[in-house]
Amino acid sequence: MWLPRAKTLLHEYVTDEKLLRHSYDVGKCMIFYARKFNQDEDLWGATGLIHDFDYQITQSCDPLDGHPYKGVRILSQLNFPAELVDAVLGHAEYTGKSRDTLLAKCLFACDEMSGFIFSCSRVHPSKQIDQLTVEFVLKRMKENSFSKAVDRNLLRKSSEELGLDFETHISNCITALSSITIP
Ligand SMILES: [Fe+2]
Ligand SMILES: [Fe+2]
Repeated sequence: MWLPRAKTLLHEYVTDEKLLRHSYDVGKCMIFYARKFNQDEDLWGATGLIHDFDYQITQSCDPLDGHPYKGVRILSQLNFPAELVDAVLGHAEYTGKSRDTLLAKCLFACDEMSGFIFSCSRVHPSKQIDQLTVEFVLKRMKENSFSKAVDRNLLRKSSEELGLDFETHISNCITALSSITIP
């Protein structure tokens, strides 16, 4: 029941295609991991889908009206589960919110990784995510000029927090992005 609500809310606030794609991509990875860890697929998918829904309407990371503070307040007002709200707050390192649940750790680990994998697919000869290999992604990570904005240390740190071997996490996200569909 949370996934359709998250989807409606996302489309209410976001029109930017890149941001929508990113939101769906994180949702796909979260659904993949919910299945893997035997967790609530609806809640996990919703958390991925909604984590950046205030990004287009916020211009900063200001605690008053920035991302994700503003979104978190809206989600609380709409009675989204506290676990989801806490995970959304915790996906932004600068909030200082600790990631105490598997849900929060997983969101953190899937956020940047899904974006990095998408960027890798753009420079792959096939342009297809399902054609990517872990080796291809690792090579791009070593290229400092590629996707400069993505913090490589954060990629590794978030995977460690989740307790996953880094290569396995890359492989899981490639599989998620090329096989999961959001209803
Ligand atoms: Fe974010
Ligand atoms: Fe994000």
